[in-house]
Parts: sequence; C-alpha cells; structure tokens
Amino acid sequence: MHSTRTGDRPAVEPSRIEVALGERAYPVLIGPGVRHRLPAEVTRIGARRVVVVSARPAEWTPDPGVPHRVVPARDGEHDKTLSTVEQLCRVFADFGLTRSDAVVSCGGGTTTDVVGLAAGLYHRGIAVIHLPTSLLAQVDASVGGKTAVNLPEGKNLVGVYWQPRAVLCDTEHLGTLPEREWRNGYGEIARAHFIGAGDLRDRPVDEQIAACVALKAQVVAADERDAGLRHILNYGHTLGHALEIATDFRLRHGEAVGIGTVFAGRLAGILDRIDARRVVEHREVVAHYGLDTALPAGVDHDELIALMRRDKKATSGLSFVLDGPTGPDLVVDVPESAVRAALAGM
Ligand code: GLY
Repeated sequence: MHSTRTGDRPAVEPSRIEVALGERAYPVLIGPGVRHRLPAEVTRIGARRVVVVSARPAEWTPDPGVPHRVVPARDGEHDKTLSTVEQLCRVFADFGLTRSDAVVSCGGGTTTDVVGLAAGLYHRGIAVIHLPTSLLAQVDASVGGKTAVNLPEGKNLVGVYWQPRAVLCDTEHLGTLPEREWRNGYGEIARAHFIGAGDLRDRPVDEQIAACVALKAQVVAADERDAGLRHILNYGHTLGHALEIATDFRLRHGEAVGIGTVFAGRLAGILDRIDARRVVEHREVVAHYGLDTALPAGVDHDELIALMRRDKKATSGLSFVLDGPTGPDLVVDVPESAVRAALAGM
C-alpha cells in the first residue's frame, strides 16, 4: 500500500515549499537524500557550531559540516519532559553554543517537539533545523513551529511557538519505519483530504507529504498562533485526543485521528452540514490508508464525551472542526445528543 517510490519522474530535485512568515520564512525540502543538504542549510543560516540531537543511528544522522556534537535521543512520549529540555540546554551550554549557532533535531515528532522547545528557550531562542524522520513528523509535527513537552497533568502543556530555520524531510528515512509508524502518519494524511489537501490516495508518498506540507504552510502563514484558521489542522483530533487518553496511548496519534476523522464525518452528517455521500467518503478515505474506522472495543462513550469537553480547543461546550458547505469550520456548542448519535454504531 505504501512505498517510498517517487513516481515515474526521472528528476530527483526535491520539492521545496516556503513557509511564508516574513523575515522568519523558511523552506521545507522533501525528497530522497535531502538530509545531505544539512551543511548547505547550516551555512545559509550562518551557524558556526551545531548540536545535533538525534534519535536515529549514526548512519542516518547527517554531518552538519561545522564543528558539532551529536547527542543521542529517544523518540517517544517518555522523554518529552522539561527535564529533557534542561539536559539538552546543559549540553548546548557545555558545548558553548551561542545565539549565532544552531541546533539540529533528527527523529520523530516527539524529538522535533522537545528539541524545538529547547532551542526556543536556550539563550531566549537559537536557530533550529528539523530533520523529521517519521511520516507523521514530515507531514505535520516538524512544520509550523509548535513545540511542547508533557506534564504529568497532560500532554503538550508546556511549549512555545518557535519556527525552525529549515525542515529537511528525507523520504529515504521512511524506508526504515515499521508498519505501525506508516499508519501513524497516514492518519494525518487522511484528515488532510478533508481540509483542503485534496485526494492524495494513490499518489507517491513524496507527493502526499508535499501536499500536506503545502497546505500546512498556507495555514500557518495565515494564522501562526492558532487564533482561527489553524484550528482546521485539528480535523479529527477532538475525538482522536480523547481516544489516545481513553486507551492509555495504546492507539497511536495517527490511528486515533483516523477514527476521529470518520467520527467527524458522521457528526457533520447528523448536523446536516454534509450529505450522506460525503459521510461515506470519510470512512472510505480512512480505510484506504489501512486505518481502523471503528471505535476500539470497550471504550466508554461517557468517558470520551467528558474528555472531549476538556479538549484545549473546546472554548464553548463540545467543539469540533467539521466539514460543511463552505469547507471545514470550528463548530461550537454541538448538542451532546448529536455527539452520542455519531459515536453510536461506530
Ligand atoms: N498539528 C497541528 C498544528 O500544528 O497546528
């Protein structure tokens, strides 16, 4: 179902997408081997010394081309803590990084999140270049400047907006991913179908990534601080986040977002925002990407509703980003009866 093939095109030039944020604009390069462009990006931004924080083996961690130190990291929620941020900042200080130097992250979304936050705090902010190595991090997490760590009280509760200076999405990294990591990324690609990326089924993975990044770049350029439009990126996420918590994170983020996307279609149908055909399309698209479309056995609807009421985006009652006649919108004060009806039979 998936492959890192890049279509029948002979060219190996990477896709280049600009995140247009004025003097903080940056490029996202997507394609096989783009990690080897790291030295050129380090030179472009004028960094003289670099700390590379990498969750990948040495052969997958590129040399930045300037004096550097490599710090091993682990992908996963367990290390997404303030104590990891402190440890990283202490390495930066020990290596003598100054504000004219840079940090590089190489790993999945949890690594780009925590390294991005450390870079955003050290010396009140130094340059960071992300090398996302998972599909999820390439299509979403590494682009847009959201950084965060977890607290025992909840996920992503401490963070800053800190835009990278460049993002290098090397599709060769994807060849090393286990099946479940692919599904994790496909959840975000499936939800992109309904928020403006178009039908990406049957497109080569580099084109799927480029389409998702182009959409995200446009949204972030218009609403960097999540005051309005950026909410659409959370399509399928309200139930998705609730499912992650209710299953004690046995469901991966993208898997939960896939189910949340099917639910968003059902809810939009119940609220007469979309027709029956479009509701079915939600299930078909999510299933196409090899993702579950039904709620996992045993999850309690009352618990899901309580968790969704506490969602960060829920400013007024139960709130969801839902498809509609003019595209996706944040819909607030959704009646609980409609939410229960959408959950029933899923
Ligand atoms: N992952 C959603 C956002 O970046 O806003």
